[in-house]
Amino acid sequence: MEIQGARVWVAGATGVLGGALARELAAAGARVALGGRDADRLAALADELGGAPTQVLDVVDVESGRAAVTAAAEALGGLDAVVVASGVVAFGPAADADDAVVEELFAVNTLGPMSMVRGALPHLADGGAVVLLSAIVADAPTLQMAEYSASKAALSAWASVLRRELRPRRVAVLDVKPPHVDTGLVHRALAGTPPRLPAGFDQRAVVDAVLAGLRGTSREVVLDPKAGELVLR
Ligand SMILES: NC(=O)c1ccc[n+]([C@@H]2O[C@H](COP(=O)([O-])OP(=O)(O)OC[C@H]3O[C@@H](n4cnc5c(N)ncnc54)[C@H](OP(=O)(O)O)[C@@H]3O)[C@@H](O)[C@H]2O)c1
Repeated sequence: MEIQGARVWVAGATGVLGGALARELAAAGARVALGGRDADRLAALADELGGAPTQVLDVVDVESGRAAVTAAAEALGGLDAVVVASGVVAFGPAADADDAVVEELFAVNTLGPMSMVRGALPHLADGGAVVLLSAIVADAPTLQMAEYSASKAALSAWASVLRRELRPRRVAVLDVKPPHVDTGLVHRALAGTPPRLPAGFDQRAVVDAVLAGLRGTSREVVLDPKAGELVLR
């Protein structure tokens, strides 16, 4: 799709990757609307981007997610793309996971994004795009991260079916599967402490790959382990 002039809703714009994506999309000429939980950081980003419309939401509360996407579509006069960059992580052995934590993890990482995308689809132009940030663990479930891996694998599986079902509308579904990036996400975990993680991957490369994916026809952004680079396929 053409990013210049595109109407793009970024949910999770208060996060590090979501904020970077919103800035880069705006710099490339998109008209962005910003969804996020932290109202102050959301307002600050909106100011930085010249008064972009904002919607405060809690992904756990599907009503608020749905209301936010509807408000974003109204503010922009429709949508050409929706980017969901909200997410949380939790650590620890699968056998010890707390039920309430697992529920929140799936609500934020899986059920909420699915609901917001469903809410966006009636507003999304044919030929538009859906961008979901799953993670490398969707394909490579990781010790001490069983529930996070499962929540992202579920989102990824859903995205792969959605992509096929939206083909008649020519809506692209881009599944972004970054490796570990030093955004501080792991220090905001719902539970547990992170296991030893690989060196943080370049945040800029993730953002560049998403924009390249939006401009083209790729299905996913994945790490090529041999090259140590993100590739579109
Ligand atoms: N960083 C990595 O290593 C990595 C690797 C692979 C995939 N990812 C995925 O990339 C996405 C962005 O992560 P990030 O690294 O940019 O982390 P981040 O800076 O912590 O951003 C997380 C975002 O999720 C939002 N969020 C969390 N719980 C929420 C809730 N209940 N309601 C609404 N928003 C909520 C946060 O909102 P507030 O700040 O407003 O609370 C924030 O905008 C996530 O889906 C993550 O799983 C990250």
